[in-house]
Amino acid sequence: MSVLIKGGRIVTASEDYIADIFIENERISLIGTNLKVNADKVIDAKGKYVLPGAIDPHTHIEFPFGATTTCDTWTSATTAAAAGGTTTVVDFCVQTPGKSLAHALDAWHGKMAKNKPVIDVGFHMAITDLKKPETMTELAKIGDAGITSYKLFMAYKGAVMVDDTTLFKVLRQAHEKGALTMVHAENGDAIDVLVKEAQAKKQTAPKYHALTRPVETEAEATNRAIQLARIADAALYVVHVSCKQSIAPIATARENDWNIHGETCPQYLFFDESYLDKPNFEGAKWVYTPPPRAKEHQDHLWHALNKDVLSVISTDHCPFNWKGQKSIGKKDFAAIPNGGVGIEDRLRLIHHYGVNEGRISLNRMVELLSTAPAKYFGLYPRKGTVSVGADADLVIFDPKKSWTISQKTSHCLADHNLYEGRKVKGTPVATLVRGKVVVEDNKLVAAPGHGEYIKRANFGEKLLAKGK
Ligand code: URP
Ligand code: ZN
Ligand code: ZN
Repeated sequence: MSVLIKGGRIVTASEDYIADIFIENERISLIGTNLKVNADKVIDAKGKYVLPGAIDPHTHIEFPFGATTTCDTWTSATTAAAAGGTTTVVDFCVQTPGKSLAHALDAWHGKMAKNKPVIDVGFHMAITDLKKPETMTELAKIGDAGITSYKLFMAYKGAVMVDDTTLFKVLRQAHEKGALTMVHAENGDAIDVLVKEAQAKKQTAPKYHALTRPVETEAEATNRAIQLARIADAALYVVHVSCKQSIAPIATARENDWNIHGETCPQYLFFDESYLDKPNFEGAKWVYTPPPRAKEHQDHLWHALNKDVLSVISTDHCPFNWKGQKSIGKKDFAAIPNGGVGIEDRLRLIHHYGVNEGRISLNRMVELLSTAPAKYFGLYPRKGTVSVGADADLVIFDPKKSWTISQKTSHCLADHNLYEGRKVKGTPVATLVRGKVVVEDNKLVAAPGHGEYIKRANFGEKLLAKGK
């Protein structure tokens, strides 16, 4: 199947020009003006942007968390992602404490085999427990499964939190293997004390989620992880940075050319702590971790994104229904499943509030949502750019089309959308994954199963085209 995309404005992290794109065998085979080729399908992209598909390196799909499991399936989450212009997700495969990494990997592949994805998928490995010596041996070989990034939670005490010994051992292994270590940076011990104190005082409302996780707990853990990475001579990527106190140690590290990187997520750019105070337990929808912060942090986050102190915007999509899931914590904020809905609207939001409102350039938007995550997570240049030989993962984006964000038009299964009712200008009108249109005018037009599992390259290395 060949496709010709005619006359679109191609925008990458560094270029902006008008041309045609010819796609054969899943890949871009030609880029030029007025291409004279016979194609099975022609897409008129005049007046539209043609962007490399966005990459979401932080999702939790069909993820068992506490007493429940995130409510999207692999099919619904990836359909929502595609509708919003995302063509690859890298999800967290999480080791069940006490079990092997192979067990986690089997479980994640099993879920995807049942509810098949429509876009491409990679996995990070979240290590929660190194008590069995063979786990380290397993980790040494995990690159064979295409997993080249590890994740550690420095919070969620009594569940998936690791101690510094585990973190340090994994960082050293990552150094040996050329992998990238990701951390959820919060001081889980201090938070545990604060949560127990709040519970003892019968402070039950959602707002106590934020009050028991002050910015210093994030800042301390961020700095600790950075210093441990320095000792291990390992690369480090700090996930979901939410506040200026955590930006500061990352900025210092990067000024010193240390191998330290960070991401933030839309929920920290667009919501503040007051959302937790919404009446009648509605605030529970904003119980994600780290929590929404004071509004002043939002400008610091945009500034850090512009200065490349933070280099990626991921979603941390971790959806729970408000009714029946968030409600588990109606009488105790600490029992509210932590996570927010977000996989679908990232590109629309960042284009509208970032580009249209002058906070970032169009090229920087592409870099933050596509090129940088492709480079960090071993997908580039097969993904993350528009070039001959790359996978034809493309978004035809209409910058003039108005869009109202709503749960009703969403493909996510959650019973709410955090951005409900927001009106934005600019929306994807078609999303192609390896040359196939998977979503057109917000409708799924490909069969689940089009998405493939991608074995990723090591941190800093290139991923060659399929079959090369
Ligand atoms: O609240 C969140 N972010 N839930 C997902 C797990 C995590 O910490 O990323
Ligand atoms: Zn986290
Ligand atoms: Zn997460």
